[in-house]
Amino acid sequence: MLLDIHSHILPAVDDGAEDLIESLHLLELMQSQGITDCIATPHFYPHEDNLEDFLQEARTAFEHLKKIVNERKLPNIYLGCEMLYYEGIGNSESLSELCLNGSDFLLLELYDGCINNTLFEDLKAMKEKLFITPVIAHIERYCDAKNYRKLLKFVKDENIPVQINAASLLIPEYNRTVKKIFKSDIKTVIATDAHSVKERPPKMAEALREVNLKLGREFRTKIMETSHWLFEKIVTEIDYNA
Ligand SMILES: [Fe+2]
Repeated sequence: MLLDIHSHILPAVDDGAEDLIESLHLLELMQSQGITDCIATPHFYPHEDNLEDFLQEARTAFEHLKKIVNERKLPNIYLGCEMLYYEGIGNSESLSELCLNGSDFLLLELYDGCINNTLFEDLKAMKEKLFITPVIAHIERYCDAKNYRKLLKFVKDENIPVQINAASLLIPEYNRTVKKIFKSDIKTVIATDAHSVKERPPKMAEALREVNLKLGREFRTKIMETSHWLFEKIVTEIDYNA
């Protein structure tokens, strides 16, 4: 079992796969890299997108893709979103519909200027008042942002999982921060954040090889353990009849 919690595989919904052919091609690539389960996480921009319209479009595209994916025995797919953080998210009542596969986990994208105490209060409120655990998307990308070290300390102290893009493991620019994240015992998973076959393809197999090579087998094992833990929470434990 290998779960990809971050991908833009839905056809023509966001800046990911352009059409059904590209969606299927991305899933074939994922399968060749050992991915068995993949969550489609189209971008949700709270200041631009209407929740109802977004959900309807995403669900329609998802159901159509899922039918073909099942016929072709490609990786199992699930629906979620990649939500952009906004101030006050900790008081939002409508987050549950945007969580990963109806679980209590929400993939949350940050931006450089948002890393401050308000963000930390919002993340705490999400967990403690809304009972939703944020998963910080591609946390390595904010490494030059003000308060980045505070963010790493915060997610570690609060036991908030983070996600690193597979492709970032292959870029020297991110070497330092990726090592730091792995070595600081933050709950970490790798995901593809795949958008397209040519520009941003899935690189899961290469990334896991890189972890083995540069950091050692124990870190690869740790990543797989966290991936299994998230799989349990996001896929296995979801009761569709509830
Ligand atoms: Fe993404």
